[in-house]
Amino acid sequence: MDIDRRISGKTKVVGVIGNPIEHTISPQLHNTLNLALTVDMVYVPLKVGKSDLENAIKGLKALNFAGFNVTVPFKRDVIRYLDEVSKDALLMGAVNTVKLEGGKLCGFNTDAEGFLRSFEEETGLRVKGLRVSIIGAGGTSRAIAVRLAMEGVSKLYILNRTLNKASDVCKVINESFDLAAEAFPSDNPGVEDILLESDVIINTTSVGMFPNPDEYPLPWEIAFRESQVVCDVIYNPVKTRFLSAAEQKGCKTINGLGMLIYQGIAAYEAWTGVQVPQDLAGELKDKLNTLIG
Ligand code: ATR
Repeated sequence: MDIDRRISGKTKVVGVIGNPIEHTISPQLHNTLNLALTVDMVYVPLKVGKSDLENAIKGLKALNFAGFNVTVPFKRDVIRYLDEVSKDALLMGAVNTVKLEGGKLCGFNTDAEGFLRSFEEETGLRVKGLRVSIIGAGGTSRAIAVRLAMEGVSKLYILNRTLNKASDVCKVINESFDLAAEAFPSDNPGVEDILLESDVIINTTSVGMFPNPDEYPLPWEIAFRESQVVCDVIYNPVKTRFLSAAEQKGCKTINGLGMLIYQGIAAYEAWTGVQVPQDLAGELKDKLNTLIG
């Protein structure tokens, strides 16, 4: 037998806390980077009971984890247990990455950065000056809306089934940026003009995700324009019904895999100080696409 030397007493430990956690592909993403870049670190999935968050965070600190990711349902609640939180993450109301620095737990958000990097890479465009519609008004919507406002989009429309949640996201934007974000109820086909005049449309709801790929995030069909960029934060399936419909109209479409990979890479770079080369990021994306598909 061969001795497995991958983990020793010096190996840095990181992981992801969430519940459920069984379907995460973050361990594959990070451990593949560890292998490819010969970084002595291991990334583990950590299922945390919904009432055990505080104990879990204290435990991770006591166990000297180098850092950890935070996923559903803890991205908002984790904030109160951290020593420092970045200004952006506070505006977004969500932390997805924590780094242990000098004995302090420092939280930030790489989700929206992942979205932006994926968008720029796949379109060759900058979002500055663009008109953007976001469907959904949950945590993902708010994080992306804040980041897009920071980048200087010219217009933000938030469409949601529950109007007051869309209004809450707009309030955060309008109080912090020189931008008038507007909220609309997504079940009203009257918002069609809003979508038609948008340069970019983003689905941030989980509608259309495996195992329901035929579901659509609105109760009516959008008449996409060919020149629009249409994004879905879902990566499983690779192409939701929403993205297929946009593609049929000739739109540039982007799924959530790039966002997932780049939020992970941003966390990885923060924990290790190692820059992930672009060609490795591309290869990782192809491999994970095959794994999911
Ligand atoms: P996340 O943190 O991933 O953004 P979330 O905070 O639970 O998740 O938000 C989910 C979003 O998807 C919400 O905007 C939700 O709409 P409501 O605010 O009306 O609940 C939206 N959503 C979920 N299921 C939906 C459905 N079947 N049809 C339309 N919107 C839906």
